[in-house]
Amino acid sequence: MIRRIKGVKDILPDDIPKWDVIETAARRLATIYGFREIRIPIFEQTDLFARSIGTTTDIVEKEMYTFQDLDKTSLTLRPEGTAGAVRAYIENNLGSVPSAQKMFYLGPMFRHESPQAGRQRQFHQLGVEFFGNPHVGADVEVMAFLWHFFADLKLRDLTLEVNSLGEPADRSRYRALLVKFLEARGDCLCVNCRGRLERNPFRILDCKEAGCRDATRDAPMMTDHLSERARTQFEDVRSGLSALGIPYTVNPRLVRGLDYYTLTAFEVTSLSPHLGAQNALGGGGRYDGLVEGLGGPSTPAVGFAAGLERIALVLPPEALTPQPKMVFVAAFGKDGEAAGTRVLQALRARGVSSETLYGASTLKAHLRQADRRGALLTAIIGDDEAAEGVVLLRDMTTKAQEKLPLSSAPDMIAARVFSA
Ligand code: HAM
Repeated sequence: MIRRIKGVKDILPDDIPKWDVIETAARRLATIYGFREIRIPIFEQTDLFARSIGTTTDIVEKEMYTFQDLDKTSLTLRPEGTAGAVRAYIENNLGSVPSAQKMFYLGPMFRHESPQAGRQRQFHQLGVEFFGNPHVGADVEVMAFLWHFFADLKLRDLTLEVNSLGEPADRSRYRALLVKFLEARGDCLCVNCRGRLERNPFRILDCKEAGCRDATRDAPMMTDHLSERARTQFEDVRSGLSALGIPYTVNPRLVRGLDYYTLTAFEVTSLSPHLGAQNALGGGGRYDGLVEGLGGPSTPAVGFAAGLERIALVLPPEALTPQPKMVFVAAFGKDGEAAGTRVLQALRARGVSSETLYGASTLKAHLRQADRRGALLTAIIGDDEAAEGVVLLRDMTTKAQEKLPLSSAPDMIAARVFSA
């Protein structure tokens, strides 16, 4: 038997109610906050991701699904959505379309990571990108969206962590300081972080290894080395959050795994035991240099992405919407089946969720199936009922049965279902 690929999951019909709730909340809030949907390709030229996410990041170094097209072009399954959204923004000249400055997307992303709870090789994100506005209002707005999204889904025990990664010049000055500090402690770092020292020293700050934690305890922090502008920007972001009553903590070690960020960076983590180490439900930040870096006009931007599998793992039952009430049609015999099929179609035409079990010849088999499907009512129609022009309507909870005229049964049943 051919099995599914490691780290990739089927989302089964029983899981779908959770996904419906999550995606419906995402779309509803996107409209409320003025973000319009964009559907970007699932694969792009590899260079797009290398140039935006950064050649020394874990994602680009070891997690991309890259393959050669027939014409030898290197293509990659998207590991995230920002790069593709920016490419689409530039290529379609969306900077000139006022309504296209705020976009969102929902869809699968691909990263070759080792699978564990909350970490897959194909996973889904809601992503939100706000282009063209350097004002901290935009930073606060996307964080408010993310927080509102999780509140709508009734998620609990969340922390919004914020940090400032400074402007590019602050970053290179700080990088030199950090590398000098860490070089003196190189022996205490894990093998992975020793490699990062040259390539991506910031990531050492959020390494979970005890040795690295110890070695970086007194490391210089970016927030103490910000330019005047970056410091003011960070203060304004924090007061913007406070003004909206959104609780946050400053985490100076929050560096994010993608290189395009400037100034604001944030992440929402969950304390839920269902997630273990993979506790980030969403994260994002400002990326003022990316549009220009990819060949577009200088355009500030800020956004976030949230992981839908992780949200589904922590979604409390009370966030689920009740499934629509269902009617079961139990039809027997030649005439009964013919009448039953017409009732089934008439119920569906009235918007009533209804089902039958084709070919079942005993009432027992029908009722068993009706119970399994959680039917509210069962419409029983055998040859005798068809001849008499009636339907026996059984209440599946009380087991009470009553006769309805066949002609008016669909309307009467629909009225019952919609008022239940
Ligand atoms: P990210 O932090 O790499 O950011 O991913 C965002 C979220 O996607 C994570 O917080 C997590 O919930 C989920 N996620 C990431 N990797 C996996 C995985 N292997 N399995 C399951 N879930 C995962 C970005 O992708 C940026 N593009 C966010 C952004 C948008 N920044 C600005 N605009």
